[in-house]
Amino acid sequence: MEVIIREANPSDAAQIIAYVNRLSEEPNSNIELSPGEFTHTVESEAAILSEFALSENSIFLVAESAGKIVGIINCRGSKRKAIRHAVTLGMSVDQDWRGQGIGRQLITRAIEWAKSAGSIKRIELAVFERNTIGIHLYQKFGFEIEGRRRKAIFRDGQYLDGLIMALLL
Ligand SMILES: CC(C)(COP(=O)(O)OP(=O)(O)OC[C@H]1O[C@@H](n2cnc3c(N)ncnc32)[C@H](O)[C@@H]1OP(=O)(O)O)[C@@H](O)C(=O)NCCC(=O)NCCS
Repeated sequence: MEVIIREANPSDAAQIIAYVNRLSEEPNSNIELSPGEFTHTVESEAAILSEFALSENSIFLVAESAGKIVGIINCRGSKRKAIRHAVTLGMSVDQDWRGQGIGRQLITRAIEWAKSAGSIKRIELAVFERNTIGIHLYQKFGFEIEGRRRKAIFRDGQYLDGLIMALLL
């Protein structure tokens, strides 16, 4: 089935909330959200999506198939002059849609956007060390491991390390 990548807009809010809730409820998840922790309302999520759309150094993209959101990626930049060239990336693909190249398409588009924005010099992200698929994807696109966040995560009854990765543009 065809998958398109497009910018999110405020009317996607309800779908994105449902999507993130599905993601956070996955067992053995490699994201920081736990079940029930994503508490945005449609209104507050729509406001966040509007902010992304208006910001020069932020973007929120969705992967969509037949009207259903099956993946998201966002890069968020600060308004502060000293750090606004460095954006933070977060991404995911819906469980049933993984391993089909959607992650690759999303990150390709995000990097293209960052390059075309001109002012962005760094894309950084945090990833669980056990997330070998994510790390592989990021390294394939040139992200390098910059640091280890020891015991930064508590999941499944144990403390886990996270990694900081970044791509310089
Ligand atoms: C990490 C994630 C975004 C990757 O998205 P995806 O659409 O599944 O990835 P793609 O299909 O584009 O594949 C990307 C690479 O990972 C590899 N890969 C994907 N699924 C894999 C699997 N189950 N086992 C081994 N390799 C796998 C692909 O082969 C590809 O590598 P290649 O280009 O060398 O062949 C997705 O797995 C996901 O959402 N995971 C849960 C949330 C998460 O971890 N988010 C990231 C937080 S930092």
